[in-house]
Amino acid sequence: MEVNIEQLEKDFQAKIDAGISIEPKDWMPERYRHQLIRMMSQHAHSEVVGMLPEGNWITRAPSLMRKMVLLAKVQDEAGHGLYIYSATETLGISRDEMINQLLTGKAKYSSIFNYPTLNWADMGAIGWLVDGAAIVNQTALAKCSFGPYARAMLRICKEENFHQKQGYQILANMMQGTEAQKQMVQDAVNRFWWPSLMMFGPSDKNSPNSDELMRWKVKLYSNDDLRQRFIDRTVPQAEAIGIKIPDDKLKWNEKTRHYEWGEINWDEFYAVIGGNGPCNRLRMKQRNDAHKNGQWVREAAIAFAEKRKKNKAA
Ligand code: 3HC
Repeated sequence: MEVNIEQLEKDFQAKIDAGISIEPKDWMPERYRHQLIRMMSQHAHSEVVGMLPEGNWITRAPSLMRKMVLLAKVQDEAGHGLYIYSATETLGISRDEMINQLLTGKAKYSSIFNYPTLNWADMGAIGWLVDGAAIVNQTALAKCSFGPYARAMLRICKEENFHQKQGYQILANMMQGTEAQKQMVQDAVNRFWWPSLMMFGPSDKNSPNSDELMRWKVKLYSNDDLRQRFIDRTVPQAEAIGIKIPDDKLKWNEKTRHYEWGEINWDEFYAVIGGNGPCNRLRMKQRNDAHKNGQWVREAAIAFAEKRKKNKAA
């Protein structure tokens, strides 16, 4: 029986427009599947690579309490990565293939993780700004059209809130401290503010994927809209603890009820996502080394699973 692709695509779009969740076993355009695999696998890669800059400071946390909180956060990120890898596998790509795409540099991960973490204030800036940006992005994704992705976001967003609050508390404490500590905070925010805005992607006019993703309600808001939402909610938080946002064009517009702000350095953005950021090579080496050193763990786990299956069958 001849399949009428046109009709299938029409019915698919009607489901999307009606806000019906698309599940793995549903018919979907190959392009929808491809876009979701691209976006979700890169999201998962970001979570896993994102463990590296913060993991760098677990052994150097200023107190046992801070060490425990940072450890919990980094472990959460690993779980977020596994969650999203599992959701992506429902689209027909294997975990091995996704990992291979990351390790060989074929796949991207968020640009923000290619910046160095120089001192403890960076842990605060990452929690407050990077996880703050992730919350804005992921609360929208929690309503996206692909069921497994949207549901994964529900659990992840709850944990991101803890991540953002612990980062903000680190900075708030330091801003009550010595002049040197206040300087450390301001320096960390100066280094992480603009790269955090870049997390939302290129401007809408330069975003090749947004139109399609918004038509299919994978993205519910544009890159620029989410970026603006992040700025509007974050600037008052900075002011509340005495941090100056490093943008001399930043000003509140009473009429639009939004902040106006300066221009992102897009040359820097494209250099970093093109593999030429400050830490791209280091992060990829660390990930490849971790994968190589973890080979024996994967072999042992597979051997154990096979033995257990044999015992069950016997
Ligand atoms: N870093 C790296 N690559 C980026 C990027 C960034 N900040 N912003 C955009 N890009 C890439 C895109 O992947 C795309 O390249 P590709 O076609 O080769 O994949 C290209 O730039 C063009 O950008 P588009 O806007 O057209 O791409 P998208 O429509 O996919 O939008 C996105 C980019 C906003 C990142 C979107 O993919 C998205 O929302 N992804 C899901 C969320 C996510 O991945 N977040 C990453 C951070 S995770 C995190 O912060 C963890 C937290 O716990 C700390």
